[in-house]
Amino acid sequence: MDKTIHMKPIFNSLGSNYDFNFVKLALKQISFGGGISVDVNRNNDASIDSLQQYLDKAYQGKSFLFYKGRDAIEFSLRILLGEGNVGEDNDSSVKYKVLTQAFSCFAVEEGIKRAGMIPVYVDVREDSTNMSVQTLIQALESNKDAKAVLVQHSLGIPADIIEIRKWCNKHNLLLIEDLAQAIGGFDKADQPLGTNSDVVIFSFSRDKIIDAVSGGAVVFKNLSNEQREKIEIILTNDLEKITKKIIFKDMIYPFITYFGRKTHDVLIGKIILKLSRIFGLITSPAISRTSKLSMMSPAYAELVLRSFIKLEKQLIHRRKIASFYLDKISNQNIKVVNTKNDVETGSNLRFSIRTTKVDKLIDLMKDHKIYLSDRWYRSAVDCGKQACHTEYKSGLAVNAEKLANEIFNLPTHRNISLKKASRIIDVLNKF
Ligand SMILES: Cc1ncc(COP(=O)(O)O)c(C=O)c1O
Repeated sequence: MDKTIHMKPIFNSLGSNYDFNFVKLALKQISFGGGISVDVNRNNDASIDSLQQYLDKAYQGKSFLFYKGRDAIEFSLRILLGEGNVGEDNDSSVKYKVLTQAFSCFAVEEGIKRAGMIPVYVDVREDSTNMSVQTLIQALESNKDAKAVLVQHSLGIPADIIEIRKWCNKHNLLLIEDLAQAIGGFDKADQPLGTNSDVVIFSFSRDKIIDAVSGGAVVFKNLSNEQREKIEIILTNDLEKITKKIIFKDMIYPFITYFGRKTHDVLIGKIILKLSRIFGLITSPAISRTSKLSMMSPAYAELVLRSFIKLEKQLIHRRKIASFYLDKISNQNIKVVNTKNDVETGSNLRFSIRTTKVDKLIDLMKDHKIYLSDRWYRSAVDCGKQACHTEYKSGLAVNAEKLANEIFNLPTHRNISLKKASRIIDVLNKF
């Protein structure tokens, strides 16, 4: 008899962060008007205010909420580095450069470019998922006019942010910390990630630590009067509301994926997921449903707040599963990326290993009903399955390219019990 017949499927993404109460809360936003029928004016909903207050307090600054993380990146760069792409000496043909990490998602580049700036790709350190002072030095060498550094703590592994902060100070560079994957992690001085930067970015989109299907935020630590005025102008003139159709599609996503996963075994799930893709209810998270700076609707703020309440519990669970993987992997052909310290101090969004036979491993896992083909990242700048025009040129960041060819992520989300983690380890250690 087929041994896998009674085994539950395991996924890396596809709404794996949601429980049934979350599904209900998302649906409630549709039926009771939390998002769909409400005027999405940012000031008229308690959940928007509560979320802003929460972020202001937790990250010691002034927050603004958006539909996507990439909106928050665009907004922060426009406010802090200038409006209208004006470079040195008011020459509008000069665009500012932002040093950002290769081994990343296209969404980051989209935010930088939407702000009228140029992403300059910095390699990751060898054997790391993050940039370092060393790789930054190399990037600055040929881009001396760069104005900012955007650090992402990839997959929840903390970058060496204290050293990077010192280096940015020395070179007069603005430091932006993107916590999309790293909320809840700590730096080497045991301070929460987000402490060392001038501005903190959040994405609350699918499969992130705080997963509200979509959402973004920025927290500014310091704002001059001039910057405050700029904020008012942009928020008044440039901020779009998202359509009811978008809110509907997002709020139904937890329901579709929850039941799609639950019934995956009996074909119905596969059909639900397939049809949802055909009808555009499930799309690649790398591609935004909007292309302009858009405000957060209260519907998302409700979901973000709920997820923040459960953050501590989530982090403990992820750490437990990551420690288990770290202890149990014994296959000499597998290289473990996360160190013990990464597991102890990071958010453990995923647990990463490297193999030169990624495709074979994906297939083998699939034979055991373990679906982990959604790797972060499949290329130095990953666009999901979509084609997108990245500024990244092949050969720019050799460590990032090699890492993208070899990386394989093990899931740590709430649906991974120790039993399921053991199933993954069993397959892995025999690979
Ligand atoms: C590090 C990081 N920052 C920002 C984003 C942008 O997210 P969003 O889809 O909310 O624009 C992503 C998305 O994958 C990300 O991984």
